[in-house]
Amino acid sequence: AAQIPDILSPEFAADPYPAYRQMRESAPLIWHEATQSYIVSRYEDVERVFKDKDGQFTTDNYDWQIEPVHGKTILQLSGREHAVRRALVAPAFRGRELQEKFLPVIERNSRELIDAFRHSGSADIVTDYATRFPVNVIADMLGLDKADHTRFHRWYTAVIAFLGNLSGDQEVAAAGERTRVEFAEYMLPIIRERRENLGDDLLSVLCAAEVDGVRMSDEDIKAFCSLLLAAGGETTDKAIASIFANLLSHPDQLAAVRADHSLIPRAFAETLRFTPPVHMIMRQSATEVQLSGGTIPAGVTVTCLIGSANRDENRYRDPDRFDIFREDLTATNAFSAAADHLAFALGRHFCVGALLAKAEVETGVAQLLDAMPDLRFADGFDPVEQGVFTRGPQALPVRFTPTA
Ligand code: HEM
Repeated sequence: AAQIPDILSPEFAADPYPAYRQMRESAPLIWHEATQSYIVSRYEDVERVFKDKDGQFTTDNYDWQIEPVHGKTILQLSGREHAVRRALVAPAFRGRELQEKFLPVIERNSRELIDAFRHSGSADIVTDYATRFPVNVIADMLGLDKADHTRFHRWYTAVIAFLGNLSGDQEVAAAGERTRVEFAEYMLPIIRERRENLGDDLLSVLCAAEVDGVRMSDEDIKAFCSLLLAAGGETTDKAIASIFANLLSHPDQLAAVRADHSLIPRAFAETLRFTPPVHMIMRQSATEVQLSGGTIPAGVTVTCLIGSANRDENRYRDPDRFDIFREDLTATNAFSAAADHLAFALGRHFCVGALLAKAEVETGVAQLLDAMPDLRFADGFDPVEQGVFTRGPQALPVRFTPTA
């Protein structure tokens, strides 16, 4: 069989999709020395690990993967402890809280960024918008001082460098741990102060939340806010960049979405399938498990390739084609973000911010399309994706007719 490029090789980083296909076909379960994990690439196997019906997988791997930078978050919790934490935080990201409190925050933050470039006729959708919008939204939702947003962005950059550090660079690891300390020094006094003066913001909602007599400690809330930087920032950032890269590369579909904004949810769902922001998620096996690709021993780390599962030819027709009209993907509605792709994972840890992400992307895309008539790539530009753990276009210079 042809040699499959290693997931840490430059060849894989340039275009992982051919390697994913080779893995699904001829090596659906491989031991990977550098990450010390078994790699799983087929849709049915990744789905099985995430759903975890028989309780065979844990998230203990997060104790070393994210704890040094975030502290103990909801992702490390399991069983009843996780269920209670989930019930404490989830209401803030759906229903009336989302619609009435946070949708205005989303709309305002998007508009502020767009107003800075709409008159000019040119912009970079990645650097001028996507990398800033979701982090601004989270900082604003939490009710943090605008003057602190720059610091918040700096921590965001350090956190995602830490999480993407698959090769274990020592300096990046040390910077991540320093970030945890700085973030705690900043956040903990604000949390204590907020408990005394509850307001209308997300931090107040988290401070006041109570389920079965359980409340979150200052440390729990701080860790959750830190997790939001990565979980809610980088992911949504990549989703916005990718939806534009995909639409701009398919002008007929861009024209359809521009003519009918009710197609934006379809474009979002297909973008998450075709180019998911998070390409791999890890788990720990508690017992020996039999998958379609082979047997995983007990007590090992399993790397689930979402980017591969979402292109599985046994699940999607013509999987390498971006098609917002495809029939084998249910578009999401306003009350659910669960589409038939694995970009938000599945099961207990299914993305708690999926509806928030959907609201951000749908608002952002609609506002950007309206502000940028005649949108096109800058002359001669072709988008280049970057990243292995998370992935998206590194730049998207565009031209358009300026608007007032
Ligand atoms: C969990 C993806 C946006 C907060 C997850 C997981 C994935 C994911 C794959 C599962 C992790 C695992 O099972 O190990 C995404 C994508 C997004 C997005 C692709 C954007 C398009 C957001 C936003 C928030 C958020 C905006 C902000 C609230 C979380 C949290 C969890 C999570 C807190 C952990 C849930 C738990 O452990 O129960 N997300 N996410 N995400 N996400 Fe998102």
